[in-house]
Amino acid sequence: MENVIISPSILSADFSDLACEIDKVKCAGAEWIHIDVMDGHFVPNITIGVPVVKSVRKSTDLVLDTHLMIENPEKYVESFAKAGSDILTFHYEACENDEKVKSVIKLIKDNNIKAGISIKPKTPPEAILPFLDFVDLVLVMTVEPGFGGQEFMHDCALKIPMIKENAPQNLIIQVDGGINNLTAKICRSLGANSLVAGSYIYNSKDYMNAITSLKQ
Ligand code: DX5
Ligand code: ZN
Repeated sequence: MENVIISPSILSADFSDLACEIDKVKCAGAEWIHIDVMDGHFVPNITIGVPVVKSVRKSTDLVLDTHLMIENPEKYVESFAKAGSDILTFHYEACENDEKVKSVIKLIKDNNIKAGISIKPKTPPEAILPFLDFVDLVLVMTVEPGFGGQEFMHDCALKIPMIKENAPQNLIIQVDGGINNLTAKICRSLGANSLVAGSYIYNSKDYMNAITSLKQ
């Protein structure tokens, strides 16, 4: 199996000690940091916004992998790019048509950062095939977005092979939701090369053991 990029989600970290929580996963072998932005409209939860990304940027040199679970992503692309995001992933379902999807991808690229597109559990993989040549990353959600600590939806992972078959060679295929040592293996065998994990890493006693177990 190819190498996998681990992106710990700080949603399950101790927000009162965020710089240290990020440093600890870096020392434990994480390459990226996953930042879950929720607006209370696209998903029924509110989490992190631009000021937090800006602060996190000052405290780490890890790749900031920002997952926008928001309506009207185009309104916030520039702010999140300026705050220091390296990758901005938006939701296919937040766009009313394919033209909108293309314009959001272009906007992200125009800000000189990497563009990702994500699909919720009920969205078929066919929906995003037209955009695979234009994005750097596809994020397959294996839980309904909104909260950490939910159970992995196996059916959603079965979308990965179709995406992989149609993807350019350097596309990053990321999975988010319910990732642990067992579900990580399933996703990787199906073709994922990046895994987001929140509660599995941050609720564990030993971050290094947890991250290492996702890479095996
Ligand atoms: C859910 C978020 C995830 C979440 C994952 O909407 O997008 O990134 O933090 O949490 P776990 O790994 O606990 O399922
Ligand atoms: Zn996420």
